[in-house]
Amino acid sequence: MHKKLAPKLDTQFKQEVYQGLTSYPKFLSSKYIYDKAGDALFQDIMNMPEYYLTNTEFSILETYKEQLAQYFFNNEKPFHLIEMGAGDGKKTKILLHHFTDKKLDFTFRPIDISQNALDSLQANLKDEIPELATEPMQGTYFETLKKLNFATDERKVILFLGSNIGNLLHDQAIEFLSKIQEYMQPNDLLFIGFDQKKHPQILLDAYNDTTGITARFNKNLLVRINRELEANFDMDSFMHWEVYDPESGTAKSYLVAQSPQQVHIEKLSLDVTFDAWETIHTEISQKYDDKTVHWLAEKSGLKVLETFSDAKNYYKNYLFTKSV
Ligand code: AVJ
Repeated sequence: MHKKLAPKLDTQFKQEVYQGLTSYPKFLSSKYIYDKAGDALFQDIMNMPEYYLTNTEFSILETYKEQLAQYFFNNEKPFHLIEMGAGDGKKTKILLHHFTDKKLDFTFRPIDISQNALDSLQANLKDEIPELATEPMQGTYFETLKKLNFATDERKVILFLGSNIGNLLHDQAIEFLSKIQEYMQPNDLLFIGFDQKKHPQILLDAYNDTTGITARFNKNLLVRINRELEANFDMDSFMHWEVYDPESGTAKSYLVAQSPQQVHIEKLSLDVTFDAWETIHTEISQKYDDKTVHWLAEKSGLKVLETFSDAKNYYKNYLFTKSV
């Protein structure tokens, strides 16, 4: 009797795809959407009128940049402005321009797992704000925060923008915030963007645009599996579907099989069958209210110092310190 050899799943991507597509119900992690094509599609999303998050946070930073300068520089000592997942830095540049115009003494330290992303950000900043001191740090958020925490006693101001925290379930968010808190000193600050609960239709429109950009973004997971793992997902037989639960504030994205089908994934030595209307859960985009953010903070050893929002309260940025 010859059993087929279990495939060697030598990357985390392979392991997670295998795990997700052999589970019931099926799931895939949204973090794998972001390859080159996925990054470009997310740029397109940020430019869609329905995706209000980006412009709203932009306007909050523009409105409160002076107040933020005062918070960040209140003891007049040099500080480290650390950004987790800076991307193209479009929003952060509002602060960087304002702080350099005011000649505040600070170093900008973008953290990213991708050296490539850091290199292009640094080149762009050198060009646009030559007087800015930039020290990119390549690695995971926690490795780098930990290192920095022990390397300096100057104030750290940590930014986590874009409601990226919304990809985490509350338990995961508490774990994440608790870990950041461990690498903070009493004088350090944490500034995070949280998209807010609002009219459910506005949320559904933001995650299910009529032009189909979000659908392509979501389906990029399958495109990527096709290319990198030699699979044969038929893009047209899956549809993007979004639901929003106004009680929990959770927006969930799915890919739904519109007919029964089988998919072969060569590099996993795996055949996956789908019943008609079977789902793959791909992403959560959690929405918040003040009660929930205060609860998350309390569970994580943080306290809210101040809240900054837009006129419609669509989006809020919260400034935290350690609570002990
Ligand atoms: C980058 C995680 C903040 O959830 O709003 C946009 C990703 N997904 N449209 C979000 C996303 C669908 C986005 N985050």
